[in-house]
Amino acid sequence: MNTATTAKPHLAEAIDEPIPTSMNAAVQHRYGNAEVVELERVATPEPGPRQVIVHVAASGIDRGVVHLMTGLPLLIRLAGFGVMRPKQPVLGADVAGRVVAVGSGVGRFRPGDEVMGIASGAFAEYAVADADKLVMLPAEVSMEHAAVSTISGITALQALTTVGRVGPGQRVLVIGASGGVGSFAVQIAAALGAEVTGVAGRSSLDAVRSFGAVRAVDYRQTRIDEIGQTFDLVIDIAGRNSLRRIRRTLTPTGTLVIVGGEDGGRVTGGIGRNVRAVLLSLFVRQRLTAFISKETLEYIEPLAGLLADGSITPHVGAHTDLAGVAHAIEQLETTGVIGKTLVSVAGPS
Ligand SMILES: NC(=O)c1ccc[n+]([C@@H]2O[C@H](COP(=O)([O-])OP(=O)(O)OC[C@H]3O[C@@H](n4cnc5c(N)ncnc54)[C@H](OP(=O)(O)O)[C@@H]3O)[C@@H](O)[C@H]2O)c1
Repeated sequence: MNTATTAKPHLAEAIDEPIPTSMNAAVQHRYGNAEVVELERVATPEPGPRQVIVHVAASGIDRGVVHLMTGLPLLIRLAGFGVMRPKQPVLGADVAGRVVAVGSGVGRFRPGDEVMGIASGAFAEYAVADADKLVMLPAEVSMEHAAVSTISGITALQALTTVGRVGPGQRVLVIGASGGVGSFAVQIAAALGAEVTGVAGRSSLDAVRSFGAVRAVDYRQTRIDEIGQTFDLVIDIAGRNSLRRIRRTLTPTGTLVIVGGEDGGRVTGGIGRNVRAVLLSLFVRQRLTAFISKETLEYIEPLAGLLADGSITPHVGAHTDLAGVAHAIEQLETTGVIGKTLVSVAGPS
């Protein structure tokens, strides 16, 4: 195994500590199930313009990782992730760690800064990140909590605020309330003064209440249109309820925000339901929407603020190291995880 530690001479600015030329990473060379992910030695990335290299302390696993590992639904391959094989063989997007090198045109960070946000290939000792997808790690937030927050947290934040336009006192239904996005959505909605009902599996209901839901509903026991009340806002993260059923749970002028949902088919992932919702919305008083999360500072900064002031606290439901990433992804796919899976990589020295 090559563990050479030659400093890279061409970096615009690098920390005194030498950056190794190779590193450990959880790598996949083809799409498939968890067995395609293996711990390998690969070349340490280099920063391009407006990018930084982060010495990764920790990362997080979310459903997006599963989609990029399997290449399913097939539509995501056409969205730039690689048609036959993954363009980026190192998985992982959530990141917390320390900047060790900056590329040209980076003014916001210097080597040594502790940061959180989104990187490319974060299941590795070093990851490259666009500087405008990182913020300084707030002093009040641990690397571990920061590492599991960004991808799921900004999705929940957008679903509730920009798209869902939630307000204090509103009744909000979060379908899929115990998972990555849902655990943040319940907490953020409650912090914004909404009255939250969360839908999840039976073994997750206590957790959903602990996130701030006034009511937790088992999806195997109760259909959403049998909960016994209507909602100003439905955040639809899982379960693939029909639009008809969801509309019955909304007030006459209520809003539906479709975030996601598995089992939508191998090709499009069920995007047809999103399109139908948006089209139907043109003809009804209810507002029916779907969105793709924007990975921008507009959301990463306020999310870091909510973590720093204690409004939200991520729930780490599972924990692994780099060698255990494949197993942890399999666990998320099969048994599910309450909140997020933390991937400990290395404490920044
Ligand atoms: N639009 C976007 O930009 C965007 C961004 C991020 C994620 N997503 C999508 O959002 C979805 C959720 O992601 P995630 O990371 O939160 O996944 P996750 O961590 O796996 O959580 C899934 C949640 O759904 C619940 N659930 C499972 N089956 C259900 C059913 N039949 N009815 C109601 N709830 C059910 C689970 O509850 P139990 O575990 O308690 O059974 C859990 O709370 C995925 O499809 C993902 O691709 C979309």
